[in-house]
Amino acid sequence: TVDAVRRRDLDGRHVVVSAGGTHEALDPVRFLGNAASGLQGVALARAAALRGATVTLVAAHVTAALPAGVQVQRVSSTADLADTMTGLAGEADALVMAAAPADFTPARPSEGKIKKDGDAGLSIDLVQTTDVLATLSRHRPRPQTIVGFAAETAASADALVALGRAKLARKGCDLLVCNDVSGGAVFGRAENSVVIVSAEGVVGEAAGDKSVIAHRIWDAVVASEKEKDR
Ligand code: CTP
Ligand code: CA
Repeated sequence: TVDAVRRRDLDGRHVVVSAGGTHEALDPVRFLGNAASGLQGVALARAAALRGATVTLVAAHVTAALPAGVQVQRVSSTADLADTMTGLAGEADALVMAAAPADFTPARPSEGKIKKDGDAGLSIDLVQTTDVLATLSRHRPRPQTIVGFAAETAASADALVALGRAKLARKGCDLLVCNDVSGGAVFGRAENSVVIVSAEGVVGEAAGDKSVIAHRIWDAVVASEKEKDR
């Protein structure tokens, strides 16, 4: 890692990293959200900047401190995130989807604040959001490395890798960082443990601080680019 920083192995590269969790508006004051903290995406942005990259961080409700020397674009919903990421794809050498986009959004967000109706309950119709990672992977405006994340509840390490490879194939991305979220252990914590897979299989593993994991992910991106050049 110290060596990668010293060599500035991402020098001249523009990388785009998404972080945080999106909010889908139910009405003007309420939303559907998730527990993503944005820490892994922030760590990825900081690590890439240290390795010499020009970095754009697309931040969805990230409350953690944002790294210096990184351009930040704030987004709210999955639709905003999709627009911003596709807008940046044309200038990106690498795109990393570390954000947790909401998978569903209200079919008809209410213009006014939703009111209680006597003692009746409430049902809200949801529709699926755009799959940002799959869209980016399918419509590449230039050669670039695209990295996704997968949060899975897996029974074993082998099962996690199998789920990861299937998801990578479905999304069409180059690398997928898989972590086991059984028990809700990851969210908001500094430490994590991941397996990085490509279409060929496992290409990296990392455990520990999210900054250590971030550097392992950039190592895998650099290695996969070298692989393609051959
Ligand atoms: N992702 C995305 N757009 C979405 C949903 C997910 O770009 N609307 C990205 C995430 O940022 C992540 C990857 O897809 O990099 C995998 O997210 P995950 O939630 O594990 O997979 P899903 O495809 O949403 O499938 P499911 O939640 O049903 O397992
Ligand atoms: Ca999802």
